[in-house]
Amino acid sequence: MFAEVCGQQGPWALLLLWCISLSAADLSWPCPQKCNCRQDTLEVNCSTKHLTGVPEGLPNNAKRLDLSGNRLKTLSRRQFYGLSKLEDLDLSENVISMIEVEAFQGLKNLRFLRIKNNRLKIIPVGVFSGLSNLRSLDISKNEILVFLDYTFQEMGNLREMNAGENDLVFISQRAFVGLLSLQELNVDRSNLTSIPTEAFSQLQSLTKMRLRRLTISILPNNAFRRLHQLRTLQILQWPSLETLNSNSLIGLNLTTLVISNCNLSAVPYTSLRHLVYLRYLDLSYNPITSIQGNLLGELLRLQEFHLAGGSLLRIEPGAFRGLVHFRLLNVSSNRLTTLEESAFHSVGNLQTLRLDRNPLTCDCRLLWVVRRRFRLNFDGRQPTCSAPDHVRKREFRDFSEVELPVVFICRQARILDRQTQEASVDEGINIQFECKADGYPPPSITWLSPQQTPLSSVGRIRILANGSLEVRYVQVHDTGAYLCIAANAAGNDSISVNLKVRSFPRNYTSPYFSDEGWVETSLPPSTNSSEQVSNPYPFDAKTLVIATTMGFLSFLSSVAICFVFMFFWSQSKGQIKHTATIDFVPRTSMGGSGDGADTGRFTMKLI
Ligand SMILES: *[C@@H]1O[C@H](CO)[C@@H](O)[C@H](O)[C@H]1NC(C)=O
Ligand SMILES: *[C@@H]1O[C@H](CO)[C@@H](O)[C@H](O)[C@H]1NC(C)=O
Ligand SMILES: *[C@@H]1O[C@H](CO)[C@@H](O)[C@H](O)[C@H]1NC(C)=O
Ligand SMILES: *[C@@H]1O[C@H](CO)[C@@H](O)[C@H](O)[C@H]1NC(C)=O
Ligand SMILES: *[C@@H]1O[C@H](CO)[C@@H](O)[C@H](O)[C@H]1NC(C)=O
Ligand SMILES: *[C@@H]1O[C@H](CO)[C@@H](O)[C@H](O)[C@H]1NC(C)=O
Ligand SMILES: *[C@@H]1O[C@H](CO)[C@@H](O)[C@H](O)[C@H]1NC(C)=O
Ligand SMILES: *[C@@H]1O[C@H](CO)[C@@H](O)[C@H](O)[C@H]1NC(C)=O
Ligand SMILES: *[C@@H]1O[C@H](CO)[C@@H](O)[C@H](O)[C@H]1NC(C)=O
Repeated sequence: MFAEVCGQQGPWALLLLWCISLSAADLSWPCPQKCNCRQDTLEVNCSTKHLTGVPEGLPNNAKRLDLSGNRLKTLSRRQFYGLSKLEDLDLSENVISMIEVEAFQGLKNLRFLRIKNNRLKIIPVGVFSGLSNLRSLDISKNEILVFLDYTFQEMGNLREMNAGENDLVFISQRAFVGLLSLQELNVDRSNLTSIPTEAFSQLQSLTKMRLRRLTISILPNNAFRRLHQLRTLQILQWPSLETLNSNSLIGLNLTTLVISNCNLSAVPYTSLRHLVYLRYLDLSYNPITSIQGNLLGELLRLQEFHLAGGSLLRIEPGAFRGLVHFRLLNVSSNRLTTLEESAFHSVGNLQTLRLDRNPLTCDCRLLWVVRRRFRLNFDGRQPTCSAPDHVRKREFRDFSEVELPVVFICRQARILDRQTQEASVDEGINIQFECKADGYPPPSITWLSPQQTPLSSVGRIRILANGSLEVRYVQVHDTGAYLCIAANAAGNDSISVNLKVRSFPRNYTSPYFSDEGWVETSLPPSTNSSEQVSNPYPFDAKTLVIATTMGFLSFLSSVAICFVFMFFWSQSKGQIKHTATIDFVPRTSMGGSGDGADTGRFTMKLI
């Protein structure tokens, strides 16, 4: 076809000339056998040609060279020398296990270098020398064990590096020296057991880092210090990561933070607090059970919060209070029964809500969601009711407007037996007060002490599982009015009970409850132990003497052993000092009396 066009005569002389020069250039572009060359794009493609070495006779103005999928084993010194125009070199999917120092020397225009999926175990210092214009380096999926000091030092223009899927056990402190422009770093699946803080701190331009599949259980303080430009940090699949120390993220100014598929059991509120520019927070697939109220308010600019696939049982009121830009909540696949409007600063800004795959109870608490069912973006996953039974498995969008006031209702909590409870009892006995309430959803019961402090389910005065209040071994100062409050989403109800405690005549000491637990100085007289009531101490005089003697004997034997040791010591060390002064504080014996206070001192001569 070329010949035909060029072969035409007449006014086409100019075109002919051009044609000739073109075909001449075409011929002059050497293309190694087995490779496919395209002169228009200056591309040499030798991919998957069973090559065992870099082919000879590569055109020296080539811009791209694809040697992927061959059987290259080694790259020798100055292997690509002369290809000074080369911009893109692909060596991935070979069996390269050895690259000699200065192998890439001369590739002054190389921007992209892929050595992915080879068998490199070490990268000798100097391998990458001459690659001063490289922008992107992929050395993932090799078997590299360590990064040595200064390995990347001449790569001042490198922007991204993928070092993932190696067997890295160690990154030397100065390994990343010289990577002044590196913005993106991936260290996926390595065998590092600690964060190479010192090495990372060289990466002053780093804006994005991904650390996937490390076996680290605690993120130490200052783990990422000096990464001032880092905006995106992704910590993925660290199955043993349980704790973030409170200063672990200090020094960072992130806009995106992902800590997913780890083993966090709580939102690391204090570690996050200073991240006031954070917009995107993803804590998905962590066994987190609740988002507490009022603890994320300092993340002023937060827009998205993801905690899909967790163990969330509850999102407390005020959880997202203060977050005025909040617009996406993704809590898909948790164990939430509800999500109250009071969790948000304002639900008016909320655009996207993933609440699917939660055992939702459809009552008045979710009315705010179902009312917005056509406005909110559920990301294609409608929330579904799990309870009550008559609406089970129904999707929110299926409810008609008239059904809402029938289905999404609550009945205010109401205390059932409102009889006034009053008890006037003797000191020392146990007593219970009932508080039963109904309502929908089932109300929670809380009790307040006469001092208005909430009582808990542990201690001498405690709330039982059925809502009753139990006071064990009542004491005079327990006297007062206790308030039971039954509360649910629709409101609350309360009732007060009175307890009056009569004190015993003081002819024996009553048991009392101290911080250490129950202390019974003696048993009440109803138990037959008159003898113990008369004696305030648990031991008689004889016991006391024996205990004291034994204590003193053991003290003497300790001193004797010391002497023996010192004797041997002085024998082996040579005689440096011939006397020793020994201060001693004798052990107090268990009777607590006698030789307790006298400190002693004696001087002895060493042999
Ligand atoms: C080289 O050719 C292979 C197919 O033989 C193709 O998959 C690959 O994308 C080509 N490489 C370039 C850089 O175009
Ligand atoms: C790295 O970890 C993987 C999986 O945990 C293991 O199979 C491999 O042997 C480890 N490599 C080294 C060098 O420790
Ligand atoms: C995750 O944490 C739990 C307890 O907090 C522990 O029992 C479990 O072994 C941890 N899992 C891993 C993979 O470390
Ligand atoms: C933190 O990052 C934000 C967003 O990139 C930027 O506007 C702000 O100036 C940074 N603050 C500091 C102290 O670097
Ligand atoms: C919510 O999280 C799940 C699981 O991580 C993810 O697949 C989904 O894309 C997220 N949805 C949105 C809207 O971000
Ligand atoms: C509540 O439980 C306690 C013990 O668990 C029991 O003694 C008491 O009778 C119960 N009260 C009511 C009203 O069921
Ligand atoms: C009970 O209701 C009042 C007013 O509605 C409210 O101020 C109070 O906090 C509620 N108490 C509980 C325990 O819910
Ligand atoms: C207390 O002592 C008085 C006499 O001092 C006696 O009458 C009374 O029974 C004693 N009370 C008890 C509970 O032992
Ligand atoms: C008191 O002693 C009597 C007889 O010694 C005995 O039957 C009774 O069970 C004892 N009571 C107590 C509370 O130990």
